[in-house]
Amino acid sequence: MTDKQASATVPTGVHPEQTDKAWSGRFSEPVSNLVQRYTASVSFDQRMAQVDIRGSLAHARMLARQAIITAQDLAEIEHGMATIEAEIGRGEFRWNLADEDVHLNIEKRLTALIGDAGKRLHTGRSRNDQVATDIRLWLREAIDNIDRLLSGYQRALLDLAERHADTPLPGFTHLQVAQPVTFGHHLLAYVEMAGRDRGRLADCRRRMNRLPLGAAALAGTSFPIDRESVARELGFDGVCENSLDAVSDRDFAIEFTAAASLLMMHVSRFSEELILWMSPRFGFIDLADRYCTGSSIMPQKKNPDVPELARGKTGRVYGHLMGLLTLMKGQPLAYNKDNQEDKEPLFDTADTLIDTLRIFAELVPGITVRPEAMRDALGQGHATATDLADYLVKRGLPFRDAHEAVARAVRRAEEKGCDLARLSLPELQTYSSLIEADVYSVLTVEGSLAARNHIGGTAPEQVRAAIARVRTRL
Ligand code: ARG
Repeated sequence: MTDKQASATVPTGVHPEQTDKAWSGRFSEPVSNLVQRYTASVSFDQRMAQVDIRGSLAHARMLARQAIITAQDLAEIEHGMATIEAEIGRGEFRWNLADEDVHLNIEKRLTALIGDAGKRLHTGRSRNDQVATDIRLWLREAIDNIDRLLSGYQRALLDLAERHADTPLPGFTHLQVAQPVTFGHHLLAYVEMAGRDRGRLADCRRRMNRLPLGAAALAGTSFPIDRESVARELGFDGVCENSLDAVSDRDFAIEFTAAASLLMMHVSRFSEELILWMSPRFGFIDLADRYCTGSSIMPQKKNPDVPELARGKTGRVYGHLMGLLTLMKGQPLAYNKDNQEDKEPLFDTADTLIDTLRIFAELVPGITVRPEAMRDALGQGHATATDLADYLVKRGLPFRDAHEAVARAVRRAEEKGCDLARLSLPELQTYSSLIEADVYSVLTVEGSLAARNHIGGTAPEQVRAAIARVRTRL
């Protein structure tokens, strides 16, 4: 490929013209256009502009406090950065491919605006500790955002669960009718999963929240810096203890994508259930039209595209986790340019989570529940067979014998094409003489639900108590 072809594929919004490199003095010829495009990250890392400026300002203030730069330099840097932030905010900032990344683009502009003071900003710092700081600041904000969205999603699930604390639903194992549960109880399972997802993200945030700045390129700096004050200003809980580790590891990005993968796995399971429940074979729920689309050929179709896409997007988040793990596995200490490849997977993971959770927090309140269909399905799978076995056990029969007696009664019901609960009393009594007329109170769905009245059980009373507990936690 010629350089001409290479420059034809410059990313949109980035300008291709040549400028003097921040590191050009060492080199006898400029990089080729193709290499320039290959090595540049500005097309995607410009998303970190705000945190990059915040980090630079904290660094500059520390340099001034330590008398490494003058108060006058600092004032000019602060003024220049305010101009740059405004330019970026108005979409007027000119991002140059030749200036590689967000860091050099901003520094170049700063120097154009304020001269020598701009050139002093990078004292005691390297892009290696700068980017390690930026990405942590960026991810910290993303995690906080995702946590808020997760709590909104939990609230939406809780509200629906509260409305259906008494609504019976067939609980499945192996996707076969197993025992009655309440729809509220079923939804609360997803509230618990989301709670653990939040815990994992908080855990990742806590470990990540240490300041790399001061590590400089890899070994620290000869200037009398004060890292703790920078950490405080930027909201870090402390500083990274080892300079080599600070600039080079991206384990926090891997932790984040691992937590994100689990989160998406949970959303994907819920999606799969929504898709099944919405199929006419189940007919348990309907999704509002605004979360579905039609078919271009089959006029009758209403497809659950949103949950299907959430299920599908889970795959790309897993992919990002694998990508980042692989990115890191062969890297010797300390910083290597490989690390530049951490950003796109990280950004895409956060974007996917944020969009998915925003949609789900809206979609859940728009679910129409069809309790009749749930109840119909419950009447077809002998869902209270375990209750009959428990009934016999409470009358003295060993559980294994009770299980066998009920299994034979179920077989009879199957032959007759009816539910176990529909067998007559004399018929039931042929399987055990311990059965009396009161058996029907345990063979009903309501009896079965109410009987599971302990913490973690499906009884409506327990579902309401569980909802109240989660609400106080939220
Ligand atoms: N754009 C680079 C990255 O994302 C910044 C650090 C570059 N450091 C270097 N020594 N080339 O990793």
